[in-house]
Amino acid sequence: MTRVEIVPSILSADAGRLAEQVKEAEAAGADRIQVDVMDGHFVPNLTFGPLIVEAVRRATKLPIEVHLMIEHPELFLEAFVKAGGTLIQVQVEATTSLYRTVQRIKELGAQAGVAINPATSLEALREILPYIDMVNVMTVEPGFGGQKFIAHSPEKISRLRAMDPNMEIEVDGGIDATTAPLAVSAGATVLVAGNSVFGFKQGVKAGIKAIRDAVV
Ligand code: DX5
Repeated sequence: MTRVEIVPSILSADAGRLAEQVKEAEAAGADRIQVDVMDGHFVPNLTFGPLIVEAVRRATKLPIEVHLMIEHPELFLEAFVKAGGTLIQVQVEATTSLYRTVQRIKELGAQAGVAINPATSLEALREILPYIDMVNVMTVEPGFGGQKFIAHSPEKISRLRAMDPNMEIEVDGGIDATTAPLAVSAGATVLVAGNSVFGFKQGVKAGIKAIRDAVV
């Protein structure tokens, strides 16, 4: 059984205590940290830039995945890798030159991932699969933390697993102790969790433990 990785996303963290929250997540066994970058165009929300990735880089030794929910991600790859991003994810819907974008991420020395929105067909990934390190199957419409897990997601995850038995499949959105087992049973190996970690009543450590215990 592949070890399931847990990736807290800082969207739901207390921005006034970001370094502290990232350190708490690292101490609690997080496998990497996700920075949810939004530009107010690709999604109706505006969040972080490279400066925040630099701040997270100073706070942890964990790998930092940068989820670019932005239009024209190809314009910002170098800035986010230089800031400390070790895995750069672009949305399959956000660029007309996905092959060149993926190659550029790898030239910059980072891992390359592609994120796919709930209503986008997996067929959009078929030709790029051999060139990428991971796929992020969005289990909510991106833009905000604390949304509800889309119920048909496990079926989509299973179809992607059938397309590529070895691909790292990450899920992102509405992941908690209830939905995590559904995603893992369908073939997910990496769980992004924002609200269920940084918004967990009993704290970050308990939040990560609840998800970890739910998928063992
Ligand atoms: C896109 C964001 C969220 C975040 C996870 O909306 O990228 O998916 O990472 O948020 P939660 O875990 O709170 O749904």
